[in-house]
Amino acid sequence: MSGIVVFGAGGRAGRAVTAEARARGYTVTAVVRDPARYPDLDAEGVTVVRGDVTDPGSVGRIAAGHAGAVHAVSPFSGPEQGFDTLDPGFFVKAADALLDGLAAAGVGRLVAVGLGANLLGADGRPVMDDPLAFPPEIRPFAQAHTAGLHRLRERGDGPVDWVMLTPAGHLEHGGARTGRYRVGGEQLPGDDREPWLSYADLAVALVDEIEEPVRHRTRVSVFNLREDKG
Ligand SMILES: NC(=O)c1ccc[n+]([C@@H]2O[C@H](COP(=O)([O-])OP(=O)(O)OC[C@H]3O[C@@H](n4cnc5c(N)ncnc54)[C@H](OP(=O)(O)O)[C@@H]3O)[C@@H](O)[C@H]2O)c1
Repeated sequence: MSGIVVFGAGGRAGRAVTAEARARGYTVTAVVRDPARYPDLDAEGVTVVRGDVTDPGSVGRIAAGHAGAVHAVSPFSGPEQGFDTLDPGFFVKAADALLDGLAAAGVGRLVAVGLGANLLGADGRPVMDDPLAFPPEIRPFAQAHTAGLHRLRERGDGPVDWVMLTPAGHLEHGGARTGRYRVGGEQLPGDDREPWLSYADLAVALVDEIEEPVRHRTRVSVFNLREDKG
């Protein structure tokens, strides 16, 4: 079984997808910017390497020989961080580097993590455009993320078969792995049940789409509904 390369392996989604992939028997190449900061990632079946998701050369060198790649990188980990250093072009650069680097390396599958803020609310607007539903101060990050999705769509006909899985609603760190998730479209799921997803179930969905690709060159939402818990 060939391995999976995980960009952003030191983060919450990256750790969850690394654990899920290992549990299913895949080897993982865990890409971080500074391996010295992540001694705990080193484990059987996991090779920690230095890399930058915005550098196509770095992506290509690291990705060669893998069955697929996961993009779980974020330059923004929470509101406390602020936006002074946010590059609005970050996710576009990452999309270009991944599509170019993976193509050069002959890796045909990319599964990326999206952002629920660009799903559509009940009024048809992206959630991030509704200040009552989404904190306006986080909008620059949501716009940067959305630009990355647009770039994937613009370049959708290339050799890399990508899919973006967008968690709808709250993404719960430390939430249980149920092994289940629902798949939706552009609309935020909105009946009277609250959408949510644990990072562990996001990881199940990400590895599923590498193991057996079902969606191609598109983005979908992934979620559970509160009563699904447990
Ligand atoms: N409900 C939702 O829609 C929702 C909620 C949360 C997160 N998300 C999305 O899920 C994805 C993963 O988020 P997360 O919560 O796992 O983030 P996280 O815990 O902050 O991890 C992100 C990782 O990206 C790495 N990184 C940053 N810049 C990099 C670069 N240039 N090259 C390689 N790695 C880089 C960081 O590691 P270093 O700094 O050490 O390099 C960090 O470990 C993101 O796209 C995020 O926006 C969606």
